[in-house]
Amino acid sequence: MSDKIYDVPAEWAKRAFLDDHAYQAKYEASVRDPEAFWADEGKRIEWFEPYTVVKNTSFDPGHVSIKWFEDGVTNVSWNCIDRHLPTRADQVAIIWEGDDPSEQRHITYQELHDEVCRFANVLRNRNVEKGDRVTLYMPMIPEAAFAMLACARLGAVHSVVFGGFSPDSLAGRIRDCGSKVVITADEGLRGGRKVPLKANVDAAIAKLGDVEVDHVVVVRRTGGAVNMEPGRDVWYHEAADLVTSHCPAAPVEAEHPLFILYTSGSTGLPKGVLHTTGGYLVYASMTHQYVFDYHDGDIYWCTADIGWVTGHSYIVYGPLANGATTLMFEGVPNYPSASRFWEVVDKHKVNIFYTAPTAIRALMQGGDAPVTKTSRASLRLLGSVGEPINPEAWEWYHRVVGDERCPIVDTWWQTETGGILITPLPGATRLKPGSATRPFFGVVPEVVDAEGRPMEGACEGNLVIADSWPGQMRTVYGDHERFMQTYFSTYPGKYFTGDGCRRDADGYYWITGRVDDVINVSGHRMGTAEVESALVAHPKVSEAAVVGYPHDIKGQGIYAYVTLMAGVEPSEELRKELVTWVRQEIGPIASPDLVQFAPGLPKTRSGKIMRRILRKIAEDEFGNLGDTSTLADPNVVEDLISHRQNKK
Ligand code: PRX
Repeated sequence: MSDKIYDVPAEWAKRAFLDDHAYQAKYEASVRDPEAFWADEGKRIEWFEPYTVVKNTSFDPGHVSIKWFEDGVTNVSWNCIDRHLPTRADQVAIIWEGDDPSEQRHITYQELHDEVCRFANVLRNRNVEKGDRVTLYMPMIPEAAFAMLACARLGAVHSVVFGGFSPDSLAGRIRDCGSKVVITADEGLRGGRKVPLKANVDAAIAKLGDVEVDHVVVVRRTGGAVNMEPGRDVWYHEAADLVTSHCPAAPVEAEHPLFILYTSGSTGLPKGVLHTTGGYLVYASMTHQYVFDYHDGDIYWCTADIGWVTGHSYIVYGPLANGATTLMFEGVPNYPSASRFWEVVDKHKVNIFYTAPTAIRALMQGGDAPVTKTSRASLRLLGSVGEPINPEAWEWYHRVVGDERCPIVDTWWQTETGGILITPLPGATRLKPGSATRPFFGVVPEVVDAEGRPMEGACEGNLVIADSWPGQMRTVYGDHERFMQTYFSTYPGKYFTGDGCRRDADGYYWITGRVDDVINVSGHRMGTAEVESALVAHPKVSEAAVVGYPHDIKGQGIYAYVTLMAGVEPSEELRKELVTWVRQEIGPIASPDLVQFAPGLPKTRSGKIMRRILRKIAEDEFGNLGDTSTLADPNVVEDLISHRQNKK
């Protein structure tokens, strides 16, 4: 915690869309009469058929239903491209910066139109129709955005799977949503290293068994050798040569699905978070405009990967809906040098820069010099997302990267929320390092106690949202029951975020992290249950329990307690083997940081693992283990403590 306060800089007070007074007035209007507020705001996108019904939402247990602008008809691709052509055909829509600093592309709105239409025609020729699911497993190249917008143009539903996930994880996601078409590239390129995307797709399809993928569209990125299955696989550039750059945008209803994005929860397999068309785009566009105070001509850069929701809402849909210039970066922060981010800022004159605390902490470890040797004079605003930002990292970002000139918007949101829910507005909000500050328009946060009672004033508890907003997820793909159970049953009638939070006397929100069995590793969400099931799938493992622990760079690290099969001896080699195993089963982001071999796990007499105790041991808080009297065998705790693994 920090009690410093940063006022809105004078130049920001002049240029911003909204000052504090305007924020307060607009916020009050948005929660006093949401219907009227969103009836107006809905017009920020264009509709083929106007809506007459604005909000039709219910959080009632057992009957959760969320519809916005439901009788309106529109198309996301048309709104992100065609709508801008009369005024912006020659304006750059996407600046692409390659992994290698010598590679770049500038794509105008007209070119974006032509590329997206061609991609849509290639998909149409492979029988992709309105409502069909298409899986994307792509590197950060413009074709990834073209493919997303091409799906949207046809009314097809994309499911982007992060290129760091394993063939197994990819297979599960293809199966769950029944994609008949997969779009990939020969290889990805990150930090000079190649990622075998097409080979992973082949391996994933081999694991699908009787689920059939009809077509794999392969974009050539590196030119590396890949296997092409005749009849199934096609090179994108060859298919694109055969089609025109004209493809009408399909009119779709506001609640037509736009995309599915899989995300980890506290139990079971990742859930397919479903977002729809109208409300999502209105919300992504509005938050992008106000949170980043985006004005025409600004160069905006979000460093996320399009495999995550941040890439969907704030690289592609929000910025393009606003006719912005959005920068897409293929590489990593420290390649070829630790100055890369700032060199890219200088090269493309970036004004608005949005990244994750984990990147900031890693760069901070390299000292100030790689930053200060660059100019960064174009920067005006900095953003943070994905996990709580510790005040030290916030201060460094502000002082060194932003030269004490740039406000920082610490934006709290989730895959489920579609867009930013709690955030400063740069011209309106006094900043406190580490606080996401205040709710965005239309968002009604509440802090509740363990019984679900809303708390007043300064308090600490769990964060819920009391009413719907247009960007909210609509369901878990194929499992509405799970949607209701996961988000609306803990505190009936309210959306439960899974986050803990504190509200201070000024009404500022401070997100304290997940209160469920989800860990946030480098801003990536990982379910402990997923890592556990990967571990127990190893033939030498009998049982596993996974918890998070504080990690200097990653925010949280993954701590795995593993019980081996009888007769198997623990060894350093086996430890490494298990880490590699999890990487292969799920992907590198799930690699356990620490593995402790545990002859026994702390269990209740009914056999339930007491994770609270495991968490405390992983956090080094042995003095504070709480009640251990209900353990079947209290002795296991001593053993766990004496063999705990050292933190890096
Ligand atoms: O715990 C919160 C954390 O990230 C979770 C959502 O993860 P995901 O769905 O992957 O989306 C990340 C990008 C939107 C939240 O439940 N989180 C996200 N942003 C912040 C944050 N925690 C604190 N401060 C933030 N600004």
